[in-house]
Amino acid sequence: MANTISFCSETMKQYEWLLTRYPTRRAALLPTLRLAESDFGELGVPEMRYVADLMEIPPAFVFGVVTFYTHYRRAGTGKFHIQVCSTLSCALRGSEDVVSRITERLGIKPGETTPCGHFTLSKVECLGSCDTAPMLQCNDDYHEDLSLEDVDQLIEQLRTEAEGGQNG
Ligand code: FES
Repeated sequence: MANTISFCSETMKQYEWLLTRYPTRRAALLPTLRLAESDFGELGVPEMRYVADLMEIPPAFVFGVVTFYTHYRRAGTGKFHIQVCSTLSCALRGSEDVVSRITERLGIKPGETTPCGHFTLSKVECLGSCDTAPMLQCNDDYHEDLSLEDVDQLIEQLRTEAEGGQNG
């Protein structure tokens, strides 16, 4: 089936530039998925198939990469994707309490999205900020050295933003 989506001309230029920076087309897959995420807003089946066709890579390989990493924005993810690090440093410094607090405040468990589509909660592996544990990533922003009060404040701030933007 032919793709009905494609990169905009600016993204296509960036993609072509990327290809000059890698020894093989396939080696440029991770940054190309970033471009796709940014251009299309999320990575669902049509977007992954488009990248696979564009890069002449089997769609199953692209799907495997997108689902292996937690940092790509997959189809159905809420407006705010809250990813709580659950690896050792963060676990020792209370990441489970952070998850429980978010669950309590938003009514969703890890792996779920609020019915309004505003929030998705995930538990993820190390985000490379172990010295500021416990921490979470919300979309592109890191929130570090979290107390439960910080979590409450963040949720309130995001709720206000979500309701102000009314995106889902
Ligand atoms: S253990 Fe949480 S950022 Fe590394």
